[in-house]
Amino acid sequence: MKKIVLAIATLLPLCAVPAHAQPAQMSAYAEDTVFGSDGYTSTDGEELYQTLCAGCHMPDGSGAVGAGRYPALSDNPNLEYAAYPVTLIVNGQAGMPAFGTFLNDEQIVALVTYLQTDLGNDFEPDATVEDVAIARPASPADPNRAEHE
Ligand code: HEC
Repeated sequence: MKKIVLAIATLLPLCAVPAHAQPAQMSAYAEDTVFGSDGYTSTDGEELYQTLCAGCHMPDGSGAVGAGRYPALSDNPNLEYAAYPVTLIVNGQAGMPAFGTFLNDEQIVALVTYLQTDLGNDFEPDATVEDVAIARPASPADPNRAEHE
């Protein structure tokens, strides 16, 4: 647990860095296919990956270099501990879009479990919904709790 909290504390400042410009092609992909108004309800890690992530990281996780650099997720030691991929998926980083508002905690756990155990990775899956809750930015003040209550 200490390791997870530490990792998150280290990563948080990075999340404040403004996203770099993304290739137009990728934004179109994101708007049309991924972030539909109905949201995305699957809780199957593989299906989520193939739908939301494979466009940049490739169906086999091998990554791509072109208009941008999309790191390989296959055989990737950065996925050994869930805190890192959970934080990245929730908050995004540079060219990596944030998925925190589109996916619920269970979906993010399913995704990270898939990343840790498939695509050529063989880690002990350790993602929990608590990890996702910790990675989410603090929620804004609840407008229903106005002072005139
Ligand atoms: C629009 C393209 C795009 C999409 C879609 C995308 N990513 Fe990424 N991803 C990136 C980029 C670019 C980086 C590198 C970020 C950086 O340079 O800090 C990255 C980095 C990552 C990393 C860190 C890899 C490492 O070794 O540091 C993980 C984990 C990751 N993405 C998982 C996902 C998952 C899971 C999804 C689907 C929910 C996803 N990505 C969707 C572009 C994308």
